[in-house]
Amino acid sequence: MQTAVKQVRDLAIEQPSSVRVFESFGIDYCCGGRKPLEQVCSEQQISLPQILEKLAEAERVAPAPIEPWTTRSCVDLVEHIVHQCHAPTRTELARLDALAYKVRNRHGANHPELVQVEALVQQIANEMMPHMDKEERVLFPYIVSLEQAHQVGAPKPYAFFGSVAHPIAAMMAEHDIVGGALASIRGLTNNFELPEGACPTYHALYATLSDFERLTHRHVHLENNVLFPRAIALAGPE
Ligand SMILES: [Fe+2]
Ligand SMILES: [Fe+2]
Repeated sequence: MQTAVKQVRDLAIEQPSSVRVFESFGIDYCCGGRKPLEQVCSEQQISLPQILEKLAEAERVAPAPIEPWTTRSCVDLVEHIVHQCHAPTRTELARLDALAYKVRNRHGANHPELVQVEALVQQIANEMMPHMDKEERVLFPYIVSLEQAHQVGAPKPYAFFGSVAHPIAAMMAEHDIVGGALASIRGLTNNFELPEGACPTYHALYATLSDFERLTHRHVHLENNVLFPRAIALAGPE
């Protein structure tokens, strides 16, 4: 299938080097990734030939093959998500909360969008902190037990929530809320464009927000597009 008509999420799975290209164009390949590349380009007024060239170039110059997670076990994937996604998310949310407060407190009068940015950062933290706890305490251990049962041919383990599709749907709905809040921040800050003469804390806030958006897109991509479909396949028909 031609790259232009493939869904962005599928390109991110098949060609991990594409993630950097999508990030550089502000393309959401996780929650909003179920769209063909050509549609995303026309919606975001991005040149399709230009992005196709960048995708080909990214594949040519990729320093080392980026590991396709599709070939790794759920145990490895869960461990990676917990250590490389959840841990930095917790640290960065604490930093963002303090930075957003400080910058809104100093510059909110001249830049009223900072009031909304601070409220959105709090909304993201209120959503993400219990969300990650639920994944670590309930959903991820169940997915690991599903995989272990499958490996030894044992019956599917019991779950109080019924089908694994139920908590997965709940987690994906929460991902959408966070993805929407991050998109709102990007819009309010005009793609993290700093005002003239912005102070160092203002710089730090926008840089941290931009990094956090990248981290969250990778995190949600690994869950929505790799781990969760695999868990549903392991659970089999209801
Ligand atoms: Fe997660
Ligand atoms: Fe999640």
